[in-house]
Amino acid sequence: MRRIGVLTSGGDAPGMNAAIRATVRYALSCGIEVYGIECGYDGMVKGNVFPMDSRSVSDTIQKGGTILKTARCPEFLQKETRRQAYDVLQAFGIEGLVVIGGDGSFRGMKDLYDDFGVPCVGIPGTIDNDLAYTDYTLGFDTAVNTVLSAVNNVRDTMTAHNRACIIEVMGRKCGDIAVYAGLAGGAEIILVPEIPMDLDKVVKTIKQDRIKGKNSVIIILAEGVCPCATLKEQILERISDLSIRTVKLGYIQRGGAPSMADRILAAKCAVKAVDLLKKEDCGGKVVGIKNNEIIDLTIDEALAVPRRFDKDLYKVATILGK
Ligand code: ADP
Ligand code: F6P
Repeated sequence: MRRIGVLTSGGDAPGMNAAIRATVRYALSCGIEVYGIECGYDGMVKGNVFPMDSRSVSDTIQKGGTILKTARCPEFLQKETRRQAYDVLQAFGIEGLVVIGGDGSFRGMKDLYDDFGVPCVGIPGTIDNDLAYTDYTLGFDTAVNTVLSAVNNVRDTMTAHNRACIIEVMGRKCGDIAVYAGLAGGAEIILVPEIPMDLDKVVKTIKQDRIKGKNSVIIILAEGVCPCATLKEQILERISDLSIRTVKLGYIQRGGAPSMADRILAAKCAVKAVDLLKKEDCGGKVVGIKNNEIIDLTIDEALAVPRRFDKDLYKVATILGK
């Protein structure tokens, strides 16, 4: 392999820059040239491609977002668009790809590999932690720490006023951000899409917490359950004298400097990705981390792993919040 391309796709996540940097510098150390592709698959189709060197990634390891920009490119679902992207790769002499993104980005990579045989390796990059084949995705640890810091701050002011607060967090259909931040932040109630919400139980818990003498109630609500305003209304219909507030953390939890864990994961995944691309029979792969070991699977194998939800951890979080 003489030249590879690197791109970020889908929602950005802290640690993507650390992964780009590691890809560029490790590939160069192996004698492989690296081209950056801007704005994900959109940039690949449009030919927004440029050579990168060690200095292109200076002063980036600590930054959130992605220096390569990211985009969603629905046209990439059509083979004709992917053919245009393949022509661009050919024109730039790009023989393999590192794709940093989530489930959708991996599906795009799989299609590109199935259609045109472009060797490619995916690095899991999304705050949602919704890729079942890997224990963690890049950005998850940082996002949870950001949520945690917000939970701590909200707790102070809720306690001062004897209030309850619903804190809505991201994650699409995955409740991992809510469970990890809820457990680490001592939330009284954690609501996730994987467990159907029982409003009676939520109301009962709040009432009991007041009787127990708790002077604040933190409810961590994953966005995949319902909007925080809806839940607030439902709770007030049942406990009309409750002083309750809502905070939707939104994009605050998607930006920011990556944590140590995300930077290390980024470096390890990038090195593995480049090592795989160096092999003749690389094919279409993804890398990840399982039981603290860096692993690789074919894209098909990875996408076939059923979604898992750590019910035991959820149960622990619920017990400890009482
Ligand atoms: P993520 O990678 O974070 O899951 P998206 O689901 O938005 O983000 O996907 C990112 C991009 O990947 C999409 O905009 C599209 O270009 C490409 N993509 C997603 N699903 C497919 C698919 N089934 N086939 C081809 N390309 C896809
Ligand atoms: O996938 C990452 C994520 O931040 C999700 O948690 C959230 O639902 C979504 O992206 C928001 O996407 P957008 O950038 O399109 O608002």
